[in-house]
Amino acid sequence: MKKQTFLYALIVLAFNCDNDKKEDITTSNYVEEAHSFAQPNISVIKHLDLNIDVNFDEKIIEGIATYTIENNDASEIVLDSKFIDIDRVEADGKDTPFSLGNFDEQLGQALKINIENDTKTISIYYKTTNKTEALQWLNAQQTADKTHPFLFTQGQAILTRTWIPIQDSPQIRITYNATVKVPSELMAVMSAENPKTKTNDGVYHFKMRQPISPYLIALAVGDIDYKAVSDRTGVYAEKSLIDKAHAEFSDMEKMVVAAENLYGNYDWDQFDVIVLPPSFPFGGMENPRLTFATPTVIAGDKSLTSLIAHELAHSWSGNLVTNATWNDFWLNEGFTVYFEIRIMEALYGKDRANMIALIGRQDLEEEVEGFKDEPNMTKLKLDLTNKNPDDGMNSIAYDKGYLFLRTLEEKVGREKFDAFLKSYFKTNAFSTVTTEDFIDYLNTNLLQPNAISFNVDEWIYQPGIPKNQAIIVSDKFENAERILHVFLDTKAVDVSQTKDWTTQEWVHFIRNFPETITNDDMKRIDDAFNLTHSTNSHIAMVWFEQAINHDYHGNSVDQNIEAFLIRVGRRWYVSTLYKAYKRNNKVDEALAIYKKARANYHSVTANTIDEMLDYKK
Ligand code: BES
Ligand code: ZN
Repeated sequence: MKKQTFLYALIVLAFNCDNDKKEDITTSNYVEEAHSFAQPNISVIKHLDLNIDVNFDEKIIEGIATYTIENNDASEIVLDSKFIDIDRVEADGKDTPFSLGNFDEQLGQALKINIENDTKTISIYYKTTNKTEALQWLNAQQTADKTHPFLFTQGQAILTRTWIPIQDSPQIRITYNATVKVPSELMAVMSAENPKTKTNDGVYHFKMRQPISPYLIALAVGDIDYKAVSDRTGVYAEKSLIDKAHAEFSDMEKMVVAAENLYGNYDWDQFDVIVLPPSFPFGGMENPRLTFATPTVIAGDKSLTSLIAHELAHSWSGNLVTNATWNDFWLNEGFTVYFEIRIMEALYGKDRANMIALIGRQDLEEEVEGFKDEPNMTKLKLDLTNKNPDDGMNSIAYDKGYLFLRTLEEKVGREKFDAFLKSYFKTNAFSTVTTEDFIDYLNTNLLQPNAISFNVDEWIYQPGIPKNQAIIVSDKFENAERILHVFLDTKAVDVSQTKDWTTQEWVHFIRNFPETITNDDMKRIDDAFNLTHSTNSHIAMVWFEQAINHDYHGNSVDQNIEAFLIRVGRRWYVSTLYKAYKRNNKVDEALAIYKKARANYHSVTANTIDEMLDYKK
């Protein structure tokens, strides 16, 4: 679809005092978008007052969403809604007619509400249904403590509309207040100012003062505790995990300081992490003030905490400066991977940073290869019209995005590049950018002033990886490969060679097994390093993948893979393993496990695996 810019009808003339020049300032100008029914140029939400009851018995959320709106002489406001029961709607406190449009499998339905041109607020009385895609209701057995149920939401990319009727486009920005009632033994936390202890009556009040995009509204409810790391960082987790989580994330404050030193002040006051039950479908989700994280990040030695650096980096790239549409998703993720790796470099040095970058570089290679029949999917700027925005959530946005920025950095020099990024975040704070806005900003503020020519268009609008890509090397990885070959050639394993290895070296070592590796070799390596029982989830995952690839069944690895797939719902991990079964013509084995595991998965993961395995419900 051709991108069109609709100018807001209301044009305000403003005067620039410095040079007396008149400028047209449009109060808003939202671009047309494929993944929302909202028409924000006509009438738009600005603030949400949410008042809800979380009902664990019925597994529904019920309540009222009241919006303060801005109306440009329109007689209706259009929201997004999917699998929500709407009881009635009020405009400024009086019942008003509403209608639901045709149902679309991806987008849900347009909720059209009659308003007057002076309507200030609309209130929607609603409840969620058992089809909701954002919510995952967990029973006690699915939690760490196994004593209380748990609920969490996942909004990105277009799921917030399945638990709150809303204008669900990343271009929308709203502040919100919420009152949430939960069973009194549980605590509720949101992407907002949060409680640190439980209340007696189970009622919690939240405030998000900074305007955020709807995909960043989030709620978690469970029997959780809080433990501060510093006066502005800390962790929420279930009792049995709180100390482990606290120790694992003890560098959080240092990460925030490193990030601020790079690209400007942290604008969200508080940076906390909540460790969720293992079915959480992502490694992390950058909900403002409260990152949601998988427990699989807790390795016991801080070795997987680049994930925290990643979600923290989104406080700038994503939450502060937001992709205008899901076609511009690389602006969120590519910048965030770049920023994550810079934080890791600041804290732990260049070697570690380059290893992370190189793993991403290898993932990118594989992703490009996987898309060889769909080269358009390897462009940074995508066209996801009639597709689920999830289809763009792959290594292209992340790792090609990173490689582009790293290549640019090497071309212009770090000093200039950092100054540029800092000003980009500052200038665009609390607003949204399209890929084209970014290109303009880049040309005007970095390339033209320094007379630098760069193949920006090729990087962004062409498939594949341009030839001028930065070359990432790691001595540590070369060493890991060498040691692997010594082990294989000598048929002996010397554990002293690997004692200081990071997760990245292990991952590289395992992913480099030759096609011809024998079961005896794998058993020898497994016996020496106990990889089948690794407590590092990333190492376990790549090891399991190799076990599937090479028909290795030693040390009860099969039971461990099955247990892992049943317990963990992190999509990246489980899809890697199911994909390995499929690639090796073992779909039956995959399905046998999936049948047992599926009920534990969040809809995001289940949808991906249903499609991959052609699973019939
Ligand atoms: N924002 C993403 C997760 C996401 C993307 C959810 C698109 C839904 C749609 C988050 O920041 C992320 O990238 N998570 C990664 C972390 C990793 C790259 C360190 C993950 O979950 O694996
Ligand atoms: Zn991310």
